[in-house]
Amino acid sequence: MSNSNRQSLHGEWSSRWVFVLAATGAAVGLGNVWKFPYIAGVNGGAAFVLIYLVFVMLIGVPLLMAEIFLGRTGRRNPALTMRELALESGRSKHWKWVGVIGILSGFLILSYYCVIAGWALDYAFKAASGSFQKLSPEHVRNMFNELISNPVELLQWHTIIILVTTMIVARGVQAGLERSIRLMFPAMVILLLVLLGYVLNTGFFDEGLEFLFKPDFSALTSAGVLMALGHAFFTLSLATGSIMMYGAYLPRHASVTVAAVCIAAADTFVALLSSMIIFPIVFANQLEPDQGPGLIFHTLPLAFSNMPHGTLFATLFFVLLVFAALTSAISLLEPSVAYLVEKYHMSRTKAAYVAGMGVWVVGIGTVLSFNHWADLKLFGHNFFELMDYLTANILLPLGGLFIAIFAAWFMKSDAAEKALDAESDRVFKWWRFCSRYLVPLAILLVFASVVGILKI
Ligand code: TRP
Repeated sequence: MSNSNRQSLHGEWSSRWVFVLAATGAAVGLGNVWKFPYIAGVNGGAAFVLIYLVFVMLIGVPLLMAEIFLGRTGRRNPALTMRELALESGRSKHWKWVGVIGILSGFLILSYYCVIAGWALDYAFKAASGSFQKLSPEHVRNMFNELISNPVELLQWHTIIILVTTMIVARGVQAGLERSIRLMFPAMVILLLVLLGYVLNTGFFDEGLEFLFKPDFSALTSAGVLMALGHAFFTLSLATGSIMMYGAYLPRHASVTVAAVCIAAADTFVALLSSMIIFPIVFANQLEPDQGPGLIFHTLPLAFSNMPHGTLFATLFFVLLVFAALTSAISLLEPSVAYLVEKYHMSRTKAAYVAGMGVWVVGIGTVLSFNHWADLKLFGHNFFELMDYLTANILLPLGGLFIAIFAAWFMKSDAAEKALDAESDRVFKWWRFCSRYLVPLAILLVFASVVGILKI
């Protein structure tokens, strides 16, 4: 069968804009609001932010394009797509392993992603019950520590999040997803702007901006550069097959380039906006910018507790954050589900529950890593940190490396050109240059500097 006739077994988006929305929904999530500010804080701010922006443009956009057009041409789960496209270009079927490892990384990311989304859900309830009033930094710290030291509570939120994710995926993403993102994304941006308005009046806005945008390269280590690279993958949902899978549902005549640029721009916008809110609050309350994963849970309640209608805004904000996390969680589960359906001929519902159950079990490790297992460490990392490090810093960049190499070197050039279906020859040539040389080189350099082969 010629590839241009291939159909997805799971339906299609109703238009290309729905695809852009869905992919933006996958991209914008906890990575932007929770993870980006805290890792920027840990790595000293502006220099890290700058490197991250360079990675998003030079590596993120070309890889987004590659994943979208590979998915759209293959129209199967990432493993089968890689296998079929490799065979069509006369290459080894073992390229499927790139897809398999991607699916597995998505599965592992989801296991801790749901636990953190659970924190946001807990905070949504706390906010609604009026707990965010007249808080001191001390109160906020205790509130957060009480939550993470209670495994039963964490498990309960984790269970709810994974259950909802599974139920949505079981139904098929198309119908539910489109409507929710169309409402949520603008609402989230509006609330972030409201918060920004508040922060502009704290008097510490300039300190925040300086921390974020005035680079001090001495604060940046090679481990920090690796984190920036890993996060560029994480935040754009790359290398797990999420975007490839969504591309498989893309109508044929849509601009891959425009879609990739829109997704990357929207994602970056939300990450920067969140950081411009968080850091002025940090400095206004003499908090430390490098306190790690609890950062937004220590800062935002303080901001809300000091502003008019704080209870309302806080509730809305955390509810939206949960929604943003859910639209990402769905994209993390979808490749595993499509794989089970296509490989083992399971029904979609059964596949969703099998995968969801697996994620739930692995997630218990993350739940315990904040309390009972806090001291159980491998290479100096607890279970949650290990999962995060292994996926974001190792598996995602490696997956991205192989996807770029496949699309730009191993896939037949005319097949790639046809699959990208770019607006002009120049766009294709630019994409191929980035994917052939820049992307692999940048990823290899970062790896080399981390293992100490290269001293930068
Ligand atoms: N990008 C999402 C976020 O920033 C998380 C996410 C969704 C993801 N799908 C992914 C991360 C695939 C890595 C790979 O929150």
